[in-house]
Amino acid sequence: MAKVLIATEKPFAKAAVDGIKKIFTEAGFETVLLEKYTDPNDLIKAVADVDALIIRSDKATHAVIEAAKNLKIIVRAGAGYDNIDIAAATEKGICAMNTPGQNSNAVAELALGLMVFMSRGQFKGISGTELKGKKLGIQAYGAVGKCVAKITKGFGMELWAYDPYACQGDIVKDGLICAQSVENLYSSCDYISVNIPANEKTKKSINFELMSKMPKGAIVVNTARKEVIDEESLKKMFAERPDFKYASDIAPDCHADLLQYNERYYATPKKQGAETSEANINAGLAAANQIVGFLKNGDRTFQVNK
Ligand code: 3PG
Repeated sequence: MAKVLIATEKPFAKAAVDGIKKIFTEAGFETVLLEKYTDPNDLIKAVADVDALIIRSDKATHAVIEAAKNLKIIVRAGAGYDNIDIAAATEKGICAMNTPGQNSNAVAELALGLMVFMSRGQFKGISGTELKGKKLGIQAYGAVGKCVAKITKGFGMELWAYDPYACQGDIVKDGLICAQSVENLYSSCDYISVNIPANEKTKKSINFELMSKMPKGAIVVNTARKEVIDEESLKKMFAERPDFKYASDIAPDCHADLLQYNERYYATPKKQGAETSEANINAGLAAANQIVGFLKNGDRTFQVNK
């Protein structure tokens, strides 16, 4: 009987856990749950005899992968898989997957919420600005970027997108202006929604040179990863541009230095882009079905380490 571990330092909603267990029971698999753990060694111990692993932002490090002697598949229930040591998984012949698109609406709704929150002075009773008529630049036109575009249309914003990997035709077909470069996006837009993954190419790629191109009153909303922002540049932007605002779903390492900027800076206390029961159910059940498909039929759809 295959054994599957759900390891979530930040647990799924109960309905998602129940749904995942039901899928595995019907498939004849055993489910083991490790929730709210604080010591990475707990994960190292728990993976010892499992065949499959479901994680969220939990770190599937080299040590975890080494300790998992029977592991055949890891599914990151979510989009970004920068928390999996892909090289280690590939070396051990372990299939790594994500569940693209399953939690993107939740993340996009948060991005929109943060845009309104920052435009209205964090609801502290001061006069703010509206989204209507402003230009929004969506940085990366993947599942989250597309959801942001869809929702924002109702706000009457002029929508731009830049994505070196997305077909320009898709961006234009959806009624957006296709920026010719990331510089073109930042220099043209009042708001930027950061939706890029964190990888070797994108880490620290949002720097002073780029952000300082934004027009007066610029607002950057990052619901992607803190690592894609160059933090020295962020500090410089706050110091040199009194009009600049930044909101992030997870605090940058320089959080304490930015608190002095009051309503120009905001970070969620805990990453919460995908913290909705709907997103948990969508991503959790997708992960479970992908594991069943892989272990029973060898289905490798959504494998990210091909
Ligand atoms: C993702 O990459 O899917 C999001 O950042 C959500 O991450 P979480 O499942 O840890 O909330």
